[in-house]
Amino acid sequence: MNPLKAAFCRTFQFGFKAAIPFLPYRNPDILNSVDEIPSLLKKQGIGNVMLVTDKSIRGFGITSHLEEILVKENIKLTVYDKVQSNPTVHIVEEARGMYLADGCEALIGFGGGSSMDCAKAVGALIARPEATLKDLGGMLRIWKKTPYTIAIPTTAGTGSETTVAAVVVDEESGHKYALMDFPLIPDVAVLDPETTRTLPPSVTAGTGMDTLAHAVEAYIGGSTTRLTRQEALRCVRLVFKYLERACKNGNDMKARRGMLRASYLGGHAFTVSYVGYVHAVSHSLSGQYNLPHGETTAILLPYVLEAYGSKIYPQLKALAIAAGVASMDTDEGLAARKFIKAVKELNSIIGIGTKIPAIKLADIKKMASFADKEGNPVYPVPVLMDAKELERFYYETYEGED
Ligand SMILES: [Fe+2]
Repeated sequence: MNPLKAAFCRTFQFGFKAAIPFLPYRNPDILNSVDEIPSLLKKQGIGNVMLVTDKSIRGFGITSHLEEILVKENIKLTVYDKVQSNPTVHIVEEARGMYLADGCEALIGFGGGSSMDCAKAVGALIARPEATLKDLGGMLRIWKKTPYTIAIPTTAGTGSETTVAAVVVDEESGHKYALMDFPLIPDVAVLDPETTRTLPPSVTAGTGMDTLAHAVEAYIGGSTTRLTRQEALRCVRLVFKYLERACKNGNDMKARRGMLRASYLGGHAFTVSYVGYVHAVSHSLSGQYNLPHGETTAILLPYVLEAYGSKIYPQLKALAIAAGVASMDTDEGLAARKFIKAVKELNSIIGIGTKIPAIKLADIKKMASFADKEGNPVYPVPVLMDAKELERFYYETYEGED
């Protein structure tokens, strides 16, 4: 990256880091079971809610218990179940239309990151009816209070239940972008492992590694606080302890609960301390090819850590200790390599590959420029890279024949 742009990025990041103590971060209230939702809504004086979910979650019957207890408690329910992975602008606008037509007063995002992000994006449009999603993309563009929002993750996870972000994709350009503002932090997060019981191993694996990437990228970045460093280390400990177990036996509720907790901690760590180029590159890939975010992120993570080199050895040593693959006595460089190796091994054990077959050479330049736009100057990454330098990650994970 040229020195002028690098200086601009670092100045911008320094400003944001200095502002952290003054920014209105808040934690959602936590519920341990969906059974607690009706009484909570009544306490808030809410009698008409919109459930935002997807057809497969609903088809599996995962939302049926909540739907039943809401109806039983005379809470009017509107269901929008057309969310797809990577919610499009069209989907968010359609759900907003239903919300307004039915006079809803609150949102429940029930599902993976896409359903929760869709609910949060609907909330943004309700708060700012004059704006388009594109207007609200980027940092701090919403400002106004969004409707009361409950997030129920069925994956562990994107961390969307605690973050300031909602990611949407413009279906015409393929550009995936995030709305990031404090009103998007849900009011309530329901961490109920029962909702993740039927999650297939491949989704458990991808979303679990996404959680790991949140903690790792937050920890190695330049905007950590004491709290986010602790959260990231606890998250890494939990992922290395429980992810393999949750993938092998979906009914292992202790592992499922551990992963939900990890997701929440990782989500909170990165909402304050940001992610990095793993996410910037991953978003550009899933925007272009509609790939699952977790798996793409998992594949990219070791490549990006290797590219940062010795600059992040001290942080990787701490992460290696949290993961249980190094001790205080281990040499820094060795511990760093052990951590990257442990990430690769965990990927392999839970069935995640090392390449992204969807990548087409002709798309790399455009995707790298999207990643550059997302990452710079916002993400306080340990080593700055511009679009040209970011292209390496697409070539390294490229497997096609064109
Ligand atoms: Fe992520």
